[in-house]
Amino acid sequence: MSVSIKELISKMTLEEKASLVVGAGKSQRVPGAAGETRSIKRLGIPSIVMTDGPQGVRIEGDGKPYVATAFPSAIVLASTWNPEVVEKVGMAIGEEAREYGVDILLAPGVNIHRNPLCGRTFEYFSEDPLLTGEISSAYVKGVQSQGVGACVKHFVANNQETNRRIIDTIASERVLREIYLRGFEIAIKKAKPWAVMSAYNKLNGEYCSENEWLLTKVLREEWGFEGIVMSDWGAGENPVKQLKAGNDLIMPGSDEQVKVLIEAVKKGELSEEILNRSVERILKVMTKTLTLRGYKYSNKPDLERHAKIAYEAAAEGIVLLKNDNNALPLSSDAKIAVFGTGQIETLRGGLGSGWTHPKYVVSILDGLRERKLNVDVELAEKYEKYVKEMRKRKEYKPESPDIPLPPLPQDFLSEEEIEKYAKRNDVALIVITRLSGEGRDLKPEKGGFYLSDDERKLLEKVSKCFHKYEKKVVAILNIGQPIEVYSWEKLVDAILLIWQPGQEAGRVVADVLIGVINPSGKLPITFPKDYNDVPSWSFPGEPPENPVKVVYYEDIYVGYRYYGTFGVEPAYPFGHGLSYTKFEYSDLKVELREDHLTVRFKVKNVGKYPGKEVAQVYVSPPRGRVPKPLLELKGFHKTRMLKPGEVEEVEVKIPLDLLASHINGKWVVESGEYEIRVGSSSRDIRLRARITITKTLTYGFKILQ
Ligand code: GLC
Repeated sequence: MSVSIKELISKMTLEEKASLVVGAGKSQRVPGAAGETRSIKRLGIPSIVMTDGPQGVRIEGDGKPYVATAFPSAIVLASTWNPEVVEKVGMAIGEEAREYGVDILLAPGVNIHRNPLCGRTFEYFSEDPLLTGEISSAYVKGVQSQGVGACVKHFVANNQETNRRIIDTIASERVLREIYLRGFEIAIKKAKPWAVMSAYNKLNGEYCSENEWLLTKVLREEWGFEGIVMSDWGAGENPVKQLKAGNDLIMPGSDEQVKVLIEAVKKGELSEEILNRSVERILKVMTKTLTLRGYKYSNKPDLERHAKIAYEAAAEGIVLLKNDNNALPLSSDAKIAVFGTGQIETLRGGLGSGWTHPKYVVSILDGLRERKLNVDVELAEKYEKYVKEMRKRKEYKPESPDIPLPPLPQDFLSEEEIEKYAKRNDVALIVITRLSGEGRDLKPEKGGFYLSDDERKLLEKVSKCFHKYEKKVVAILNIGQPIEVYSWEKLVDAILLIWQPGQEAGRVVADVLIGVINPSGKLPITFPKDYNDVPSWSFPGEPPENPVKVVYYEDIYVGYRYYGTFGVEPAYPFGHGLSYTKFEYSDLKVELREDHLTVRFKVKNVGKYPGKEVAQVYVSPPRGRVPKPLLELKGFHKTRMLKPGEVEEVEVKIPLDLLASHINGKWVVESGEYEIRVGSSSRDIRLRARITITKTLTYGFKILQ
């Protein structure tokens, strides 16, 4: 495309323009990729290829998926609180996309965790918009540094899978701007993704893909987004409304939709200027693609090097929830009895377009064996035999080769057998798994948010037998979203939350268990004591039997913003995560400048292990006038690896407009006294300081520039 884009458009026929804004259906160039635009040979305009997904390149091929690294799920990346690590993952996924001929990667997922039952919680980052925005930005930068475009999705408020294609999300402008849009806003302003994917759901009565307020006023006029907006696959109903709203590319696309657009222009229902606007945006992004630059991709990405990056990211994202009396780390010669079929059917990630096809997944059992840990052989073989036999049975036949569904019964060992293992081992590991994904929200019932009866029975038996001999019990949670832990956590001495950590799972678990890795992950989402404590009680909408509308009654009180403000104690709070060492905070100094706060303090490793600490900076606003959460995350910093005795001086800069509330169409920072809270979690505050903002600050829409 040597001529200028304007000249090119002037040469295009109406048919050619309409064909450019509607996808080609399936991908021809890279069979099994999620989608492709239509080429226009007459004008030398090639097609561009796009594919999923956030956890790794997913190209299903003609029945033979491309092998690509299964990186840790998004929720693990967020649990690292480490943008540098996340950027490296983005670079690696970007490289794999590039080498497989992909121009745009349909990732990252930037939706907020409104409710823990959402099936795609594994695929999104956090209940907090700042953490979401910072981690998304790092991911996008990483991907795009490889010449591949990133596509932040699903814009916006796609916070459930139930009836996702038609559900009407009713939310206030304030909560959209302060919570659900904010992560996208930060990513778009900081990392400039080439594309945005509009969501399936409706927003206050209009499909997101047909919503001009969303796609033009907010996204382009206020935030200055210059890339393309593509629809989710088959989203919305009316191609004319989609184009008018600012949805430039309709995916996956059908010939019928092309015809509808041509007819609409001919009938004067759609102006050619609107069509040209989207054509121009698409051509501008196309000029950046590797296809346009004639890149000769190898089909041989460096999977070996990327495996190490997947391992490192998982190592930083594992969260140690509980560790009574230093049950962990284990000595490397500890005798270990492993319970739970998840030791074998270890989950690397969740289902749907975010699924992956790695060369291997190191199961927890294989990881322990590979690290030559002292695993009880007889018990391991009993579990391997059990899983093999059960998966042959009709009722437990897996849905597809590498999808371990339906869940297997966990309680098949008698108390006597377990007692035998308790006598001859030092520690019991119990693996609990949960698999959800696109189109599959969890249910607030046993086997969903709550343990199943057989999981609970297994936990109770193992706890009873091992504690009888004063042996330790460690639960390993291989889950994609929070589950109920409060009713049983007393049964175990330690809880290791590995989420769905990608293909290197077993190696990371083994290394954390024996202290080769000192866990440094922190919760990006609250673990509530019970589902009834969750503020988003309207999930998944009304009427309950077949929801068509979901009202965000809790408004800005999402996650810890609710639990903290209304005094509801969680099982484990946002930002929580233990280490094998201890950190001390000191010397807090806060300076108020013209347009920002500078928060300085020191973090010292006062324990016995080298470790990294995620220091979090929360701001508690003046009480009384504008209703606000008790506290909100406004900055964070993950230290380097600190040796025992080492100190890191931390400086966090907070732009004042980040404190603003969206009130009556304006961003307002109220005058008054603000408390700065620095801590190791949202409820483990170590340092406090107060600053006074003397006059109320008001901003237009140009904030966070
Ligand atoms: C799916 C998903 C979206 C994905 C797209 C292409 O329905 O919602 O995340 O990128 O279709 O597979």
